[in-house]
Amino acid sequence: MNAPAVPAADVLRAALAGLVDGLPPRQAAQAVERLIANYRGATPTDAPILRDRADVVAYAAYRMPATFEAVRSALAAFAAAAPDWAPGSHVDVGGGTGAATWAVGATWDGVRPVTVLDWAEPALALGREIAAANPALRDVRWQRSRIGSALTVESTDLVTVSYVLNELTAADRAALVDAAASAAQAVVIVEAGTPAGYERVIEARDRLVAAGLHVAAPCPHSAACPIVPGTDWCHFSARVSRSSLHRQVKGGSLAYEDEKFSYVAAARFPVAPAASRVVRRPQIRKGQVLLDLCERDEQLRRRTVTKRHGDQYKAARDADWGDAWPPAGEEA
Ligand SMILES: C[S@@+](CC[C@H](N)C(=O)[O-])C[C@H]1O[C@@H](n2cnc3c(N)ncnc32)[C@H](O)[C@@H]1O
Repeated sequence: MNAPAVPAADVLRAALAGLVDGLPPRQAAQAVERLIANYRGATPTDAPILRDRADVVAYAAYRMPATFEAVRSALAAFAAAAPDWAPGSHVDVGGGTGAATWAVGATWDGVRPVTVLDWAEPALALGREIAAANPALRDVRWQRSRIGSALTVESTDLVTVSYVLNELTAADRAALVDAAASAAQAVVIVEAGTPAGYERVIEARDRLVAAGLHVAAPCPHSAACPIVPGTDWCHFSARVSRSSLHRQVKGGSLAYEDEKFSYVAAARFPVAPAASRVVRRPQIRKGQVLLDLCERDEQLRRRTVTKRHGDQYKAARDADWGDAWPPAGEEA
């Protein structure tokens, strides 16, 4: 993993701020409102939602920092389960303006061949423009492609599918996940952290496992998810700094917001998933921390870690929603 002089999130933020600077504030806010309304409408659609430059500038400025942070969190959990692996190539399907390519670049050092596939030409064009600010993305191919039964994904190390399944029919979701599973050594799928997003992730997870992949994160195992359908949903949270456009559209003065997401990362090669994962925000009480964990034996359990547990108590106080538990190196 890298620690570049200027973190990718900051480079991305600056590139996006530059885009919005070129637009009158009212026009930018109206484009975001139109985008939100379109996304509230029925999906899947027969034609791209991102139709012109105003649409994609709005998408990039308003949503891309959040989808970037969500994918980056998912990739960090995946990288922890596959510490000796790094992708030598990457295909981002439904990649839009390229949030996942930025997240891959922020997770693993170096430059690799990357292909972004999307059916919205204006999204690809803007993605190319923004990527010019990031040397790690100089070899990206931005390619128009429609996801459907005819989709082919070239053989690659990593496929990412971020915030796309929601826009597809059930048949196209299945075709995409199967194509990704047969093309890649590793597949990372991210969706909104809603009950419906979680359901789509579970559907994809089942297909990846059936195709012979091993779940690396967030689950500690590749067996069935222990959540009883309809009773809860597995999701996580990534902190995102709000841009001035965000504040303009949403009001308020909070400097950040939390992006909720669901994900699955799976690989064809052996992985070392977490022993268990913290699946809710830990509750810190006087002298104790309550951890809700998904565990390797396919159970969900609440564990109470108290001062009597010594170092584990200190670690529990630092544990965050989404973390592996116990922290690396402290497994019994
Ligand atoms: C919500 S955006 C997500 C973009 C990007 N992956 C991200 O995480 O920011 C969904 C993307 O999927 C693309 N998309 C939706 N349906 C598609 C289809 N049938 N074929 C190709 N691309 C599609 C859209 O054009 C859009 O760029």
